[in-house]
Order: sequence, then structure tokens, then C-alpha cells
Amino acid sequence: MYNVKVSPLGIMENKSAIDNWVNGIAEQCGAKNIHWCDGSQKEYDNLCDLLVRKGTFIKLNQEKRPNSFACFSDPSDVARVEDKTFICSRRKEDAGPTNNWMAPEEMKHILNNLLTDSMQGRTLYAIPFCMGPLGSPYARYGVQVTDSEYVVVNMKIMTRMGDEVMPYLQSDNYVKCIHTIGAPLRPGQEDVKWPCNPETKYISHFPEERMVISYGSGYGGNALMGKKCFALRIASVMAREENWLAEHMLIMGVESPEGEKTYLGAAFPSACGKTNFAMLIPPKEMQGWKVTTIGDDIAWVHIRKDGKLTAINPESGYFGVAPGTNYETNPNAMESMRKNTIFTNVAVTPGGDVWWEGLTPQPPKNLIDWHGLPWDPKSGKPAAHPNSRFTAPSYQNPAIDSEWDNPNGVQIEGFIFGGRRTTTVPLVYQSFNWNFGVYLATTMGSETTAAAFGEVGKIRRDPFAMLPFMGYHIGDYVNHWLQFGRDLPMTPRIFGVNWFRKDEHGKFLWPGFGENMRVLKWIVQRIKGQNSAIESPIGWMPTYKDLDWSGLENFTKDDFAKIMEIDRELWKKELLSHEELFEKMYDKLPKEFFFMRELLLSSLWRSPEHWGLQPE
Ligand code: OXD
Ligand code: MN
Repeated sequence: MYNVKVSPLGIMENKSAIDNWVNGIAEQCGAKNIHWCDGSQKEYDNLCDLLVRKGTFIKLNQEKRPNSFACFSDPSDVARVEDKTFICSRRKEDAGPTNNWMAPEEMKHILNNLLTDSMQGRTLYAIPFCMGPLGSPYARYGVQVTDSEYVVVNMKIMTRMGDEVMPYLQSDNYVKCIHTIGAPLRPGQEDVKWPCNPETKYISHFPEERMVISYGSGYGGNALMGKKCFALRIASVMAREENWLAEHMLIMGVESPEGEKTYLGAAFPSACGKTNFAMLIPPKEMQGWKVTTIGDDIAWVHIRKDGKLTAINPESGYFGVAPGTNYETNPNAMESMRKNTIFTNVAVTPGGDVWWEGLTPQPPKNLIDWHGLPWDPKSGKPAAHPNSRFTAPSYQNPAIDSEWDNPNGVQIEGFIFGGRRTTTVPLVYQSFNWNFGVYLATTMGSETTAAAFGEVGKIRRDPFAMLPFMGYHIGDYVNHWLQFGRDLPMTPRIFGVNWFRKDEHGKFLWPGFGENMRVLKWIVQRIKGQNSAIESPIGWMPTYKDLDWSGLENFTKDDFAKIMEIDRELWKKELLSHEELFEKMYDKLPKEFFFMRELLLSSLWRSPEHWGLQPE
């Protein structure tokens, strides 16, 4: 067994201090009653039954999807609301140029009014929860209060919660998470299926107080506060103070045919395939290679005593994007959600199963769409919302890594960064060193997706895939990464990838999914010093012969040249567009970055016009 320390304070003493805090909120919010969550299966089942009775949940066919439910949200409540997300640090400059900021007093004034009587007619649920393996030296604790049963049952899947957490919880060591859907139920008023506040939403973080207050939304990253609010925004602040990293990264294990295991962290923006990558099944021709999952969204990375890096996944479930997921693209995700799963905003079949775009080539007949209405396939509108989700427990993933719950974490040997880029960025390259890697991750661009409200398909700079999840100044964050590297005796290797490049006809150049194993193999071999590369203007790159093509022989040298192409003119524009981000970071921009950009520019200038298309 792992050696785990339990608080000597014991349950009762902790509970009374935290009780006072919870009781105070219940009083202000006018909650009907208080329910402390014990985290039991019985409690989960009872709440799911209640949600069925309220009309929020549809119980799915017990044979096809045992113990699983579907629900449809309010159309105003389908994604994270970045424009309503605030970092309320005491000083504006601590939130930095990429966050919305409001002074804590001002935000509290607004929220005070909004919270008063906001839970009328509803039960307040108090959820003690743990981010990370219970008792891990790297785990952190929280208490979320919420008036949403949907949130409680999702939190049960996504976090360790309930009685088992209490022995570790101390009155001075937990993050306070206050959540209300902002839809009080006045006497005599009938409830709706998805109560929320369609007009007003605030997702506000008070980093110095280790507190989050989320008002008005019942969905995803706005409401399941262990996830983005705590494990990224608040945790990134803790991580900077305590010298660790809280990252928007999957953690995967890659096992070679010789049984050698390498763990990697990989950061991609929302809805760019982190879940697929974390659960990848290699092509059958690449015999002996195996990928296992530690996590699909968030990594907490610490420096061990021996100077190596160790990472834990603070979550215990997947809140994955449904559209596009099927038995071809991600069989492990499909198995993970076969039972005990909550589906949000997918379509429902007449037989009580679920469906979304990309699940099967042809939609089944007589679907109910994500509005809960009969779907007209000719409407041109999707049956499932593009950001529809499944919430499934990690342990149901057939590819779960044996160490996923290890309180000591797993040793990380490399980092991968990748955006969604139709042009410009090649399939894979290795950064020259840690500092160049930090530059590449900082300037990463990606096309926006449906995971957040707003225009889809626009390129934005998304440093470290953390843009929507940063708890402090982006410049301080980048400097923290640089400093972190200086503290390491041996820095992990850093790689850039792009699965999304298209040709001039708009066709993807790379098959992606399981075939990404070919890139992963090269990455792992580079880390182990077992494969070669050539120097390109932007980093080390494989040549055609460096990648394993068994089973994909029809991907020719020419195809490879196209996907690896570095077009000098496009890259000059790319480097120029970094300037826009740098301007925002002005006084906090690391000096190294100017030199690196100069170096990149001059090596581009010296290289052929279309580097990569030249035979090596
Ligand atoms: C997520 C996101 O839900 O990044 O993981 O939006
Ligand atoms: Mn995410």
C-alpha cells in the first residue's frame, strides 16, 4: 500500500469549522435545507432518481447504457463563458492582460446581492472533495456548495468526494467553492428542467483567498468547480507560489515493445483531441507499442527530491467532448462511457440510447435533439450540440494506467504542445532546448472551438493552452516556466505537434487518431536518445525514414514533405504575429524571448524558401 498521511484532527473537529462557513452561505442564499454529501453510491443513485423525477435526467436504456442518463441544458448554458470569467486578484496587474479583472470588493458587492436568496426553494449541497489521489502529498482539497443536483452527481464522477475526504480536510487548507445556478424557486413556482440564470453569469476567482464564486450557470467548467476553477485557475496561483506547475495537459504512458515506459504531459486547447490522444490505440502494425491514460485534461507537476518531475491527474473522471467520438476514433472512450455515465446535450434515440454527429455515418431515425425536440435531419442543424459531453469515471477506461491513482504520481520525461492549425505548423518538431520550448508553448496559436462561447475557427494565441485557465499574469506564468527549468538538473524534452494541417482543398493532410502513434514513437525515441533528427529553422525534425510507416506505406515521402513544410513567408508572418502577444506582456516579457525571435527569424532567412520540401 502507499504511505499516506491522515490528518490527526479527525473528522468532527474539521467539520464544525467548515460547517460554520457552509451554514453562513446557506443562510445568505436562503437555501431550504443543507445536505452534506457522503459520496456514497446510494446518495448518487438517489440524486439521479430525483433528477429523473424533476425531468432533468432521462434514464437511458438499462441494457444498452446501464445506470446512465442524458440531459439537455438551457440553450444559454452550453459552454464555458470566458467573457464572464474573472480573476479578482487584489491588484489588477496580477491578473494580467489576458484575464478579465474586477476588484474583489466590487465583485463581492455584485455577488453579495446576487447570492442573497439565490437558493430559495432549493437544497444546498456541501461537497467535500479532493483533487488528486487521496492523501497524496500533491493533492489539494476543496469544499463546493451548490444548489444543483446535476453538479453533485457530476462532481461524484470527476473528483474524490464525500466522507472519505473528511479526514484530510482541515479548516485552513481547503479552497472555498461557492456555486449557485442563480434560479431561486419562489413558493408555488414550478421548476424547469434545466434551471440556470439565462441573463446573468459570473465565474469569479479570488486567488489570494483561495475562493471561487460561480453564479448563474449549471454547466461544465462553469459549475464543476474542481476542474477549471480550482485545478487550473486557483491551482496555477498556488503552483507559482510553491514552485510547481498546474497545467491544461493530459498525462499518458507510452510503453515500447521492450516494456520500457515513458510518461508524457501534453497540452492542447479545449476540444483539440486531448481525450483521444490520451486513450490512443496504436495501429496494429506497430506491434508491442501501447498507450495508457493517467489523465485527459489536467496535470499537476512537481519536482521530486531527486530533481525529476512527477505528475498527478487531479481528476477522477472524464468530461469529454462527444461529437466525433466513435469506435474508430476512440474505442477506449466508447468503453469508458458504456455504463455509469452522464450525457449532456447529446441526442437521444427512440430506443433510449445516445447519438451525436460522428458516432455513426448515418443518424438513427426519429432522434430527439439536444433541445429535447424531434430532430429534422434536413434542418442543417446538428442533433447533438458541438460541445455536448459525456461524464464517465476514469476506472472504466480499458487503457487506464496502473499508476493513475498513485499518490506519488508518475515521472514525466517530456512535454508536447499542439494547437489546431490548418496551415503553417508542421506535424512534429522538437524544441532546441527548454527555453525555446517555453517560447514555442507561449506563442502557440490555435483555432477556437465550441468549448467556449464565441466565434469558432478564429486563430488566437493560446499560451500553453492555458489562455482561458490562467489564474494570474501570463508574463509571470511564462517566467515561472523559465525559472522552473533553471531549477531542474535535467529538463524534459519539449515537442510541438499539429494534427490538423490541411491541403489547399481543405482536406486533412494527416490521418490522426491511432496514427499519431508514429509521431509519439519518434518523440519517445528522441527522449531516450534512440532516433535521429535534422536541424530545421524552428527545431529538430524527423526525416521520412525516422518515422515508423508500417501499415501506412501509402503515406509517401511527398505527403510527408508537405506536412513537414516550413514556408518561409508564412513563418515570417507567424513570428510577426507573436508580437501582438508580446505587446500585451510588455514589462513582463522575458528578455530571452526577443533573442529567440531574432534567432528564429534569421535562421528562417538562411533556410530554403520551403524548408522540408527539400530532400534531406
Ligand atoms: C474542457 C475544456 O472542458 O477545456 O476540458 O473546455
Ligand atoms: Mn480542458
